[in-house]
Amino acid sequence: MATSRKKLFIKTYGCQMNVYDSGRMADVLAPLGYEPAEEAEGADMVILNTCHIREKASEKVYSELGRLRLQQQDKAVRGERMIIAVAGCVAQAEGAEIMARAPHVDMVFGPQTYHQLPEMVTRAVRGAGGVINTDFPVESKFDLLPGEGATPQGPSAFVSVQEGCDKFCTFCVVPYTRGAEYSRSATQILEETRRMVANGTVEITLLGQNVNAYHGEGPDGGTWGLGRLIRALAETDGLARIRYTTSHPRDMDDDLIRAHGEVPQLMPFVHLPVQSGSDRILAAMNRKHTADDYRRIVDKLRAARPGLALSSDFIVGFPGETAEDFAATLRLITDVTYASAYSFKYSARPGTPAATMAEGRLTEEDKSARLEAVQNLLAEQQRAFNGLSLGTVQPVLFDRRGKLPGQLLGRGPFMQAVHAHAPDRLLGQVVPVRITAASASSLGGEVVTAETVHGRESALSAIAADPPPHSPAHSHPTGTQEVTA
Ligand code: 5AD
Ligand code: SF4
Repeated sequence: MATSRKKLFIKTYGCQMNVYDSGRMADVLAPLGYEPAEEAEGADMVILNTCHIREKASEKVYSELGRLRLQQQDKAVRGERMIIAVAGCVAQAEGAEIMARAPHVDMVFGPQTYHQLPEMVTRAVRGAGGVINTDFPVESKFDLLPGEGATPQGPSAFVSVQEGCDKFCTFCVVPYTRGAEYSRSATQILEETRRMVANGTVEITLLGQNVNAYHGEGPDGGTWGLGRLIRALAETDGLARIRYTTSHPRDMDDDLIRAHGEVPQLMPFVHLPVQSGSDRILAAMNRKHTADDYRRIVDKLRAARPGLALSSDFIVGFPGETAEDFAATLRLITDVTYASAYSFKYSARPGTPAATMAEGRLTEEDKSARLEAVQNLLAEQQRAFNGLSLGTVQPVLFDRRGKLPGQLLGRGPFMQAVHAHAPDRLLGQVVPVRITAASASSLGGEVVTAETVHGRESALSAIAADPPPHSPAHSHPTGTQEVTA
């Protein structure tokens, strides 16, 4: 295949696992001459890396394919080709149906086969009809993706450690689209992390649909859990921060909880989806824990790491959810107190057990009213949480330029977005910032220099950040995204 320069545009929907996968697709395609482009317009290949988790996310794909068709036709008029691909979980779930609904699509492939992209592209370019690849191959893509030469991800990077899920929550498509639970070997993860840190990464987020179900092979031949892996990663010189997402309450084992108290690089913020506060609904969801089990886990985490903050996912309007069940969810939120959280109206997904639960289905109006109530409570908690940061000094990892000239944007320990005036040389560094402004969704502050602390000019380092402003009721977190669990 010719390696002339071609433009590749990847549009990513859904969770961070997809963000990670999109990066790896770009790595796989780079040797074929594909270079990342900022927009679909004029691109030689467009990949939609899709999400199937809720109906809305899935439907977006078809409207985007409609728009792309026009651009593909424009290119064809000029005698050029735009290859259109659908990847990710909609591709896995709907496969051939996508080609039938949108025949201008050249390739459809699931999350486990993108290491085979070069071969798929060859077939698509030959034009012998659309390529569909939704296998769960026996080989792992992780063993075949390029290691050396992967595109640097910047100061804060994702590392996929675990994929798939065996939990089968009754509402969720993930066990069907991502397949069975699989953990990468610790050696592979440690190597990938070392390479990233050598390329300027200072924070890693370990990714998995059920990341704390991690049980990969350790270099010693034994099976390592997530706590053990985190302790080993913490030995990496130059790695300042470790996070992980998304966790399941049932896999929050004592070793991982202890790691929160013992590993300074492990950030004091955990995304721990609970979905509902009602035991009856939790059972119908097949979550295999009660609301009080969850409360106990939160207590243990906060005992291990005082000031630890939490976020979560909630589903309202699951089939059969009564006003009482919903009140239990609001009670759980009040008891735990979140720094941030995501909440969704239940959406029936084809092929999942809950989609066939006809009894007690809620109207859209009822679901909307409950969603609003949950979101109001969570927004109030997030505002209060952000307000607690005022006047404190937080270590902020600046990872990009802000909207205003001279401004940098980064994240504090609890995932809060923090902006401050700061020189570019601080990009990619963890810097103490005194928080002077707090809004519902972000913080603003001033970089603390030795000058502002001691009245004389000197280095920014060596200034310890204030401990988080915690009270048992108001621990910190903020702004995660969606993987699942
Ligand atoms: N309907 C609504 N929300 C869902 N989620 C997963 N499946 C569904 C569904 N069918 C939510 C869960 C999960 C998050 C990523 O998406 O809260 O944790
Ligand atoms: Fe698995 Fe999470 Fe989906 Fe439950 S919600 S089936 S734990 S991915």
